[in-house]
Amino acid sequence: MRTTTIAGVLVLASLFGGRLPAQDILAHPDIPLLNAQGESVLTRNAPLSLKESCNGCHDTAYIASHSYHVSLGTPEERAARFDPLTLDTFRPGRGTAAELATWLRTRGARHVGGGFAASPPKDGTFDFAAAGATEMNCLLCHLPRPDDEARRRELAAGRFAWVSTATLGKTPVVTRKGEDWSWNREVFDEKGQVKGELLGLRTPRASNCAICHGFVPPKRNEPFFLRPGASHPETETTGSIFAADRIRESGMNVAGKDDLRRPWDVHAERLLECSDCHGSLNDPAYDAELPPTEPKHLAVEPRRLDLREFLRTPSHDFAKGHVSQSQVARRLDGSMRRCEDCHAAEKTHAFLPYRDRHFTSMQCEACHIPKEYAPTRQQTDWTLLGPDGDALVVYRGVSGDPSDPRTLVRGYTPTLLPRKELDGTRRLTPQNLMSTFFWVDGAHGEKVSRDVLARAIFGGTEGTYRPALVEALDTNGDGRLEGRELRLDTAKKTAVMAGLLENEGVKNPMIRGEILPYGVHHGVAPARFATKDCNGCHGVESRVGREFQIAAYLPGGVTPHLPEDALVTLPGRLAPTSDGALVFQPDPTAAGLRVLGFGTDRLVDRIGQWAVILVLVGVFFHGGIRIFLHFYSRNAPPKEDAS
Ligand code: HEC
Ligand code: HEC
Ligand code: HEC
Ligand code: HEC
Ligand code: HEC
Ligand code: HEC
Ligand code: HEC
Repeated sequence: MRTTTIAGVLVLASLFGGRLPAQDILAHPDIPLLNAQGESVLTRNAPLSLKESCNGCHDTAYIASHSYHVSLGTPEERAARFDPLTLDTFRPGRGTAAELATWLRTRGARHVGGGFAASPPKDGTFDFAAAGATEMNCLLCHLPRPDDEARRRELAAGRFAWVSTATLGKTPVVTRKGEDWSWNREVFDEKGQVKGELLGLRTPRASNCAICHGFVPPKRNEPFFLRPGASHPETETTGSIFAADRIRESGMNVAGKDDLRRPWDVHAERLLECSDCHGSLNDPAYDAELPPTEPKHLAVEPRRLDLREFLRTPSHDFAKGHVSQSQVARRLDGSMRRCEDCHAAEKTHAFLPYRDRHFTSMQCEACHIPKEYAPTRQQTDWTLLGPDGDALVVYRGVSGDPSDPRTLVRGYTPTLLPRKELDGTRRLTPQNLMSTFFWVDGAHGEKVSRDVLARAIFGGTEGTYRPALVEALDTNGDGRLEGRELRLDTAKKTAVMAGLLENEGVKNPMIRGEILPYGVHHGVAPARFATKDCNGCHGVESRVGREFQIAAYLPGGVTPHLPEDALVTLPGRLAPTSDGALVFQPDPTAAGLRVLGFGTDRLVDRIGQWAVILVLVGVFFHGGIRIFLHFYSRNAPPKEDAS
């Protein structure tokens, strides 16, 4: 009896005694920082290798091989589209080592590293052994404050081995000394490990994803102003900003913003993060739709990974939808929960008749993203370059220069286009349409690269146009090219530019134009801002028939077209306007929709109006006769009784 009590006290004492540190059992363990050879970075002040350092507990090879961010899709997927915002036509896994190095230096910041970037071809065109390889950068998504600026600097300088180290730039682990990085020995223990909490590794927040995706303001409740540009592609192409703040409190000059008591994005306001909708596909906490390989009778898959297994091999293929703007990882399309999977829409929306009909003919976003308030691209023109060497861009939703904080931002209402869904149906989805124009080499149809363009347009110094170009385009004769002068809007101007390209070796240069559809899925408004007015769609001024401008001018007179693999169609017609612009005039009947009160249904309306008028006429006529007969019978001489 006494011995068991003593044993019990001893066990308890060992549990709560000094041997167990009084730390959070869920805290991240200490991390050894290792170089590419697996030895401590301190040994030779070597660059950090995350592949080695994290590998002890997380399977970094598995993570990198299960990530479309690393592979950026198969070459075929990527080749189907190019990046129109940067004129990037790079195809991962192809080309020489020197081409890869150039891409990493100039465009590599939008790649998380690893994969094709970590295994460059050994063709002697670039010395990757000296520069090092860019590995998958875990810190970019998992550090609370990754030093993206320092990372970009190392990339641009071609010091690829130091990119991961630089990302730690805002932690106490490493300091920058001139061009070099030096490890702060005092924060390492004798085994070469740093404390887990020093790095603060955690599940990614929206601010991590914002390094490459749409704009997320760095701090809550602090007015921000967003200078538009290609570095935040989602915001640039759809107008959405993932922010909890109210629009009226932002530093952007949004028209009528005093009345906009809504957040930029209701999900950001209600504390959802990107990974709540785009999480890891094998996360045991994620009760995803069953993959098609499961037997049909299963409603739930109970055989999930246990937590330990997941922490070792978390899939970095994130849940994704079936969007019109990107071709990456199409094999995973439809793996995410969409609006209808999280919200029981049938249980609400009592105001809406024919709920099923509405939900099957359009996406929730059609009513719930009524407007976007950031300047959004309407046109990207690569047939000439601006003085900064970038494309000429036209924005929608602003009047004036959007990079000037005083410019009034009106916002825009996306157009509704039928999108081909995975189940074969078509639903109206809000879209931005952006036109893009570029030169191709007539000999093989490849796009003329930005370098060749710059050489043709500027010759030696960027920003100084070649005299031949100035002579052809300078309409006001002040010897400079600016504003509307920078447009190839006549055959003569186009021919001059084509000549300059031919001088650079482009054969038979031709202008091509494309219309690129960008699905609008973020920037959901609170419910009370959703479209409730039936006339918004069913009236004469219906949104489903509203004109949508696609281009402010047509470079080289070329009419752009939708790519063949687009998921959306353009039911209606493209019409040039008198001032040289191009608009899309939607026709919902061409999409097979009969939207009551709009379009051909106006005939039905007219029949209805006439029916009402005729009934009223009938009522008056009938009533009139009755009244007449009544008075007539009163005033008529009494009939004699025939008794
Ligand atoms: C010594 C083993 C070990 C090493 C080395 C290690 N981890 Fe972990 N990691 C763990 C354990 C155990 C957990 C679970 C405990 C936790 O959630 O903090 C974890 C959790 C995480 C989490 C989830 C944190 C959260 O709060 O959800 C991330 C992200 C992570 N690690 C990233 C990394 C990265 C990046 C590295 C390399 C720099 C790394 N880990 C190195 C053991 C390790
Ligand atoms: C592009 C951003 C990104 C990069 C790069 C990245 N991760 Fe993750 N990681 C995520 C996301 C998103 C999740 C899933 C979170 C969820 O499902 O809620 C995740 C999940 C994890 C988890 C599971 C715990 C958790 O937070 O849910 C670990 C461990 C982890 N990552 C480690 C790593 C390591 C190690 C690397 C580098 C080899 C790495 N990650 C690179 C975005 C990233
Ligand atoms: C280093 C840059 C980078 C970071 C950081 C990053 N991404 Fe991406 N992501 C990309 C690129 C590049 C693509 C390919 C499509 C494109 O060009 O926009 C992509 C594609 C995606 C897609 C697929 C889109 C589709 O349907 O086609 C999703 C979803 C996604 N990212 C989510 C996230 C989430 C969530 C995070 C944060 C945890 C994140 N990304 C962090 C660069 C990044
Ligand atoms: C409330 C859920 C939700 C949240 C939170 C969310 N998304 Fe999405 N995301 C979606 C939906 C829905 C789609 C469209 C899927 C479809 O139509 O099939 C989408 C599409 C995308 C796409 C592809 C289309 C595009 O716009 O390029 C990317 C990339 C993406 N999301 C990244 C992010 C990032 C980064 C964040 C955080 C800043 C985020 N998402 C937050 C629901 C969400
Ligand atoms: C991963 C689950 C998830 C997805 C996907 C999702 N939502 Fe939500 N949504 C939420 C949560 C959680 C809230 C906050 C509910 C609350 O207030 O507690 C929310 C809030 C909302 C609200 C605000 C309601 C109000 O009170 O004003 C609207 C509207 C909404 N979502 C519409 C959408 C639409 C449209 C989509 C598709 C683009 C979508 N949601 C996708 C989880 C989701
Ligand atoms: C025809 C336009 C329309 C469509 C389509 C639509 N909604 Fe709504 N939704 C509204 C309006 C309007 C409200 C506000 C209801 C009110 O004021 O009574 C609302 C309310 C909501 C709310 C808040 C409910 C509450 O009780 O607070 C959620 C969540 C929501 N919708 C999600 C969805 C989802 C998910 C879909 C797609 C399946 C969808 N909606 C389709 C117009 C629409
Ligand atoms: C965002 C646009 C939109 C809004 C807002 C909207 N509808 Fe609709 N409505 C549609 C579309 C699209 C259809 C489907 C047409 C089809 O399937 O051919 C439809 C179908 C209908 C139908 C069925 C017509 C038929 O032919 O069977 C009725 C009735 C209807 N709507 C009434 C309403 C009422 C009442 C409201 C306001 C409470 C409303 N709608 C709001 C777009 C809208």
